[in-house]
Amino acid sequence: MQAVVIAGDHLGLVERPDPSPGDTELLVAVRAAGVNSADLAQRRGEYPAPPGWPDDIPGLELAGEVRATGARVRRFAVGARVMALVGGGGQATLATVDEAHALALPDGLSWPAAGGFPEAFATAFDALFSQGGLTLGERVLVTGAAGGVGSAAVQLAAAGGARVVATVRDPALREAVAGLGAGDVIDPDDVARHGPYDVVLELVGAASLAVVLPCLSTGGRVLVIGVGGGATAAIDLRGLMSRRARIGGSTLRARTHAERAAVVAALAAKVLPLLAAGRLRVPVSETFPLRRAADAYERFAARGRLGKIVLLS
Ligand SMILES: NC(=O)c1ccc[n+]([C@@H]2O[C@H](COP(=O)([O-])OP(=O)(O)OC[C@H]3O[C@@H](n4cnc5c(N)ncnc54)[C@H](OP(=O)(O)O)[C@@H]3O)[C@@H](O)[C@H]2O)c1
Repeated sequence: MQAVVIAGDHLGLVERPDPSPGDTELLVAVRAAGVNSADLAQRRGEYPAPPGWPDDIPGLELAGEVRATGARVRRFAVGARVMALVGGGGQATLATVDEAHALALPDGLSWPAAGGFPEAFATAFDALFSQGGLTLGERVLVTGAAGGVGSAAVQLAAAGGARVVATVRDPALREAVAGLGAGDVIDPDDVARHGPYDVVLELVGAASLAVVLPCLSTGGRVLVIGVGGGATAAIDLRGLMSRRARIGGSTLRARTHAERAAVVAALAAKVLPLLAAGRLRVPVSETFPLRRAADAYERFAARGRLGKIVLLS
């Protein structure tokens, strides 16, 4: 197979032996694989792969056709179109995934959309609903809402009956984010004027958290999912106490096999039907062939994009 390989600072396509599936695994001919900031951090040497995953092939999500199945696979057959959440190794022409971490593609979903779906939608769904307990009618703030996770979160929160406020720094992207279901799309400097918020999906990190905390409603919950805007913040604990507020955080990548399977099962039960019904979409800003992974990473790091960057093979 061919794989995007991190070698020091270099990122290039390299020939590697084909993997073979374990008992409960699928061998997938990858057609599309989303780029995530974790891939860029791994390339910088700041985010090593967790144990059990390829340590130099990035890629946390993929979509493709099943080529072969392990002896104990029950849910998918050769030829099935699947997408999957992986802990690494997605950016290659072949990958093995556990069937418990795979989802069937809804009819009509394109490869680029499928390749950009699992990580963003799993992260957003898990944070908002499983961790944050978001319910009907609550007011939710999504910071950094034009990106892959943010554009998923805006749609999921709106589909779940929440009132959505979204921060987007690029004015040119605000109308598109409103089109995903945000009632108010605002500049990050205007957060205070649009609160209070019952749930905050914090995708920017410390720079935003300082602004957000005083705007929580009583019983408000903040889920820290991204720290691109800083990982260390001073917190007014008195304000936190008086609002009976909670701050939590999570990452998907570090989860165990069983925890990852639970996230995928929740996605299959709650989110996939909405995707299949056309009530959710995966905004794909740009696609790149696998051999141009370095260009794709560069584009990912640049500002001003709606949704995902996806590699195609
Ligand atoms: N915990 C997890 O399991 C998990 C999983 C996936 C992603 N993440 C994290 O979640 C974050 C979002 O991921 P993503 O895939 O959606 O990334 P993305 O597509 O690059 O989107 C990030 C968005 O945040 C905005 N932004 C960045 N810095 C900002 C700042 N200082 N102030 C205001 N807006 C800012 C960007 O706007 P511009 O276009 O203006 O730059 C962009 O729209 C990343 O930090 C990522 O590492 C965590």
